[in-house]
Amino acid sequence: MELTSILAAIVFVLILIYFYLSWQYNYWQRQGVPSAKGAIPGLGHMLPVFTTQKSMATVCEELYKSGKNYSMYGYYRLFSPLLLIRDPEIVKNVFLTNFSSFSENPMQINSSKRDELLGLNPFFVSGEKWKEARAPLSNSFSSMKLKILMSLVLKVSTKMSKYLHTECKTEKELDLNKLCHKFTGEISSTGMGIEAHNFQEELQPKNGEMTYNQILNKIFENPSLSTGIHQMIMFFIPSLAKIMNLALTPIEVDQYFREIAKNIIANRQREKGTYNDFMQIVLDYQKSHGTNMNQETLAAAHMLSFAADVYETSAKTMSFLITEIAAHPEIQQKVRQEIQELDTKYNGEITYDSLKEMTYLEKVLSESQRMHHIVGAFFKICTKRTKLEGSDGLSCVVEPGHTIAVSSFGFQMDPKYWNEPEKFDPERFDDSEKSKRNKFVFLPFGEGPRVCVGMRLALIMIKVAIFTIFKDFQVDVSPKMIYPIKRDETSFLNTAKGGFWVTLTPLKS
Ligand code: HEM
Repeated sequence: MELTSILAAIVFVLILIYFYLSWQYNYWQRQGVPSAKGAIPGLGHMLPVFTTQKSMATVCEELYKSGKNYSMYGYYRLFSPLLLIRDPEIVKNVFLTNFSSFSENPMQINSSKRDELLGLNPFFVSGEKWKEARAPLSNSFSSMKLKILMSLVLKVSTKMSKYLHTECKTEKELDLNKLCHKFTGEISSTGMGIEAHNFQEELQPKNGEMTYNQILNKIFENPSLSTGIHQMIMFFIPSLAKIMNLALTPIEVDQYFREIAKNIIANRQREKGTYNDFMQIVLDYQKSHGTNMNQETLAAAHMLSFAADVYETSAKTMSFLITEIAAHPEIQQKVRQEIQELDTKYNGEITYDSLKEMTYLEKVLSESQRMHHIVGAFFKICTKRTKLEGSDGLSCVVEPGHTIAVSSFGFQMDPKYWNEPEKFDPERFDDSEKSKRNKFVFLPFGEGPRVCVGMRLALIMIKVAIFTIFKDFQVDVSPKMIYPIKRDETSFLNTAKGGFWVTLTPLKS
């Protein structure tokens, strides 16, 4: 071919690409929906995410702020148009009223053998599979079964208390996130009939074998480069992830849970004892409701899901909460006073009822979750063509496959709903104040049919941990901690830049 023909072909292809991109990035204009400026061809508005300058949730928060005058605002993730919702009534529509049209989460696992175990975690599946995956969990967290699980939480809190009294005889600086992980890791392992021995390091595996928390950190704290890249592709380009047959579960994690499940089942069959733990609750549920899955795989799947769900979100929520209590001495005093009163009323015991009476702590927790939401943004996939209408007259027909974004960082720090949003003020969650606000501007555990299924267990764990720590120790923010808290923009779940650092000093009895 002559050089001129080659050049003409290149120019022609470039013109085609130009028209395609212009058409693609004009999607919101064609829909009559206001949208963010500055989409970069091929990346949309995702440049800061790819350069790890900002997390996806922070980008959504910034877009929430720039779309200030509108109920909905368009932007682009790579080539795809995303609709950011800025009106709490539309959030209600998407999460609750019209749930059947927006019931999918974007990160779907595919049929890869490596993600077989995650297929029982409701977060990653949809439709009938989601219902089947969620039912045993809803059953496990009924009031009666929560009382069984609470006895496990109390057992772990006794271990933590002993550990802290040994470690912190005088003022001592602690890596708070590590402490919270010890607590949540011990609860998740105890719930499955094994013990991580996080508070008795002398009993942990030796000879280079990984501890229980080290295994879980393969998913959350130190994912390998390939796991990190796979997670990004699965989130940003799920169709490519499907073609590449990518998996979320690191291989060591998959093997670990399969091996442990095999041993637990063999032990329980041999010993024929009675077991009061999460593992037995779900195994009994599956026995009475039937399942096509092999029992060992089923047990491994429940163990992995429970472990992952209990471990990370609760530890991060506790770390933010303890840091904020430490940073506000007057709030710490009130929290401790509530603990001491309940301690006297219930003769030194923590009970299911005494936890319900920790109403001041509930307000402090809500305020901490408002300022430090754990995911920062929600994404929901449209499954049925639906028209959304805002209170400002804007409307948009959302097509199947399109993504809706809700910025919880945006809503929860918006001065329109919160007076002086940067101020830490638990009194915003007094019943009288709460009743004045639209419920859908505060989404600590999500809302609607996909609301966090483990919320009640999480609240028990957090209250017991706070009771145990603040009853006996003064907690202060250590000079090593960056306070006011700054977000670590490289983390998928919200966490503090530089980590969480506090000092614990025993209270004089
Ligand atoms: C303080 C701790 C926790 C926080 C802040 C939290 C928060 C959340 C949030 C924001 C969602 C997403 C809801 C949505 O997509 O609309 C979620 C979902 C979920 N959470 Fe939690 N969570 C916590 C603890 C737990 C615990 C302890 C468990 C289980 C033992 C759990 C199990 C789940 C499951 C299975 C889902 C998926 C639900 C579904 O899609 O149907 N979470 N959680």
